[in-house]
Amino acid sequence: MSTRPADKHGGHAASTGSGQARRPVTITSLQEKKALGEAIVMVTAYDYPSATVVDEAGVDLVLVGDSAAMVVLGYPNTTPVSMDEMVMLSAAVRRGLKHPLLIGDMPFGSYEASNEQAIANAQRFIKESGCDAVKLERGGASAERARAIVDSGIPVMGHIGLTPQSAVQLGGYRAQGRTAAAAQAVIEEALQLQEAGCFAIVLECVPSELTDALMPLLDVPAIGIGAGPHTDGQVLVFHDLLGIWDGRPAKFVRQYGQIREQMVAGVAAYAKDVRSRAYPAPEHEYEMSPDEARQLAGWARDHAVASRH
Ligand code: KIV
Repeated sequence: MSTRPADKHGGHAASTGSGQARRPVTITSLQEKKALGEAIVMVTAYDYPSATVVDEAGVDLVLVGDSAAMVVLGYPNTTPVSMDEMVMLSAAVRRGLKHPLLIGDMPFGSYEASNEQAIANAQRFIKESGCDAVKLERGGASAERARAIVDSGIPVMGHIGLTPQSAVQLGGYRAQGRTAAAAQAVIEEALQLQEAGCFAIVLECVPSELTDALMPLLDVPAIGIGAGPHTDGQVLVFHDLLGIWDGRPAKFVRQYGQIREQMVAGVAAYAKDVRSRAYPAPEHEYEMSPDEARQLAGWARDHAVASRH
């Protein structure tokens, strides 16, 4: 266990390297970045240690994605994850995060039924997890939910293109908007979400031509994942970018580590040392004073003799 002091969220103070204190990211600072053409960095996180890592690495936005269903909880897709599970994971991330804006991903079934349901569950992310904002998928009826949540005082991020919660309806995990007509439909959804008051929009797995047609129409930041180089920022799943997930990465993923290999090698080395009794070594042992050790040895000897009779 680390004994570093914790900040007000329980997270550890991050250093900028320049000695300057980092300011917390806000919706206004994201708009400023967009205006200045500074790329926005977003990543997912699902627990306390990953939160401290992404904070220290200096990202702008952290999403507790419903991808947690697959990469953390082992479900076959994102739909089974519950509000209780998402709230618990988001609260753990909150405790490790200081600077980035924290977004809770509304899971499948937590917002579709009514505006009231959507507001109640968005409030759970804010009140129980300490999230700053929530994200939901698709335009259409979801845009109406987004508007209701925004009107209730909670910032909302939209998500269009490949929306994994409706992957079956979309024909699987495949790029969306690949014809002019389909691209226009995706762009329409983005504009609905912008009009509903979303502060940013995730654009997943769409052709770059679609992104290029959309960007001049958007006033809010667009964060791409498999949407080409011309969005205002990029997002990747933590387990994909670090090579922790054992599934096949999508075409748009660049892996910046192979951590799973190192994890397996580390645990295998530990297992080998335990089996060969190379671990624990003398430096891992605790000691008694010689006097206490003598007393204990005497007691154990007497006890062994007594128990034989
Ligand atoms: O759930 C998730 O991780 C996401 C990101 C890929 C944007 O929605």
